[in-house]
Amino acid sequence: MAKQNKKPVKITETVLRDAHQSLIATRMTTEQMLPIIDKMDQVGYHAVECWGGATFDASLRFLKEDPWERLRKLKAGFKKTKLQMLFRGQNILGYRPYADDVVEYFVQKSIANGIDIIRIFDCLNDLRNLQTAVTATNKEKGHAQVALSYTLGDAYTLQYWTDMAKKIEEMGANSICIKDMAGLLTPYKAEELVKSLKAATKLPIELHTHYTSGVASMTYMKAVEAGCDIIDTAMSPFALGTSQPATEVMAEAFKGTPLDPGYDQMLLKEIADYFRPMREEALKSGLMNPKVLGVDIQTLLYQVPGGMLSNMVSQLKEQNAEDKYMEVLEEIPRVRKDLGEPPLVTPSSQIVGTQAVFNVLMGERYKVATKETKDVLLGKYGQTVKPFNPEVIDKVLGEEKKNAITCRYADLLEPELHKIEEEMKQWKQQDEDVLSYALFPQVATEFFKYREAQQTGVDASAADTKNGAYPV
Ligand code: CO
Repeated sequence: MAKQNKKPVKITETVLRDAHQSLIATRMTTEQMLPIIDKMDQVGYHAVECWGGATFDASLRFLKEDPWERLRKLKAGFKKTKLQMLFRGQNILGYRPYADDVVEYFVQKSIANGIDIIRIFDCLNDLRNLQTAVTATNKEKGHAQVALSYTLGDAYTLQYWTDMAKKIEEMGANSICIKDMAGLLTPYKAEELVKSLKAATKLPIELHTHYTSGVASMTYMKAVEAGCDIIDTAMSPFALGTSQPATEVMAEAFKGTPLDPGYDQMLLKEIADYFRPMREEALKSGLMNPKVLGVDIQTLLYQVPGGMLSNMVSQLKEQNAEDKYMEVLEEIPRVRKDLGEPPLVTPSSQIVGTQAVFNVLMGERYKVATKETKDVLLGKYGQTVKPFNPEVIDKVLGEEKKNAITCRYADLLEPELHKIEEEMKQWKQQDEDVLSYALFPQVATEFFKYREAQQTGVDASAADTKNGAYPV
């Protein structure tokens, strides 16, 4: 038998970020989190992922909560456990590329308010879009983890991932994550990938996957045996389906072996008991759709992340075109090929998905192209692994194609912070408000108005926490 891993596996708990983002549209409130974090702090987790991703937008937009305040409260409660966030490289927590000064300031404030580990990814795996955030994290003495946005396609060979891992090590990252947002990584592929990355770099390897296609816990098992250092799991009431494998189950699976993380199952049970009524309530109210809890094998066939499917359904519903579901599903891989075969993760997933919906509903491909599709073709999001379809470039960009760039887009951007601060200064109550506004100007302004009304005692309309489809 090949050399076996002999170290206890480390676990990152995702119930406070990815799990509720994947299952209940990111609607868990700070108030729902706080009563249990003292117990969670006793488990011995490697880290708790609790911030970033869509939580920032959802807090401001739907929960009418200040995300920075949430982070400070979590930090006060987690005395021993490291806090982790998800960061979209040059897109920060938004949907477009920002200037370097905004990226640097966001990293600085995230760490100052309590984040220990920043997981940084780029939706095109263009490493130039990660460097600013990695360097800023190093400077602030945070742990910079760089994620490979895992996907399938001709260009995505074992060699491709291994070369990328070596470059990530050179760029100053402290660890590497294989980020399998769609649940495409199968057990033996994971074993092969982890072995190859372990041989190529000295950095710890973490694996992040979703249960969507039903293979995730087997994938973790093979990956850990092959030397994967850390896996991401969620407490059982918010596990499985489009979320992660269950924490209790993965901990139990390694019992009696050198890989056992040694967690107290009674303590885990108390934590699960706390979250279970929240799940039941979400099922009753319709916030949690039983559909996302099953195995969705379409994920493996169409390589579409679970969150993207639910977003697509709501776009079609708005247009009274739900009968076009299968057509759009088949159009997604074609659009992805036209756009250089990127991984499908925020924001490339939204860009490809929305364009596919347009292509089908208009009855002619690229009759209408979104601004984001144009920006991808202009090179603003970065370099894709494959070239764009030249016919699509001609149709969508026409004369504009002479403006396409090959440099890092952020190199063309003037510093933005000062201008942004000028624009929003009437609302500023803390430095961090500038960043909330930088990412989501309209949503943040609405929130600032709400906050002011609360403070002055004016009867503000209650926060809308249920309505509206939110892309996960
Ligand atoms: Co995820």
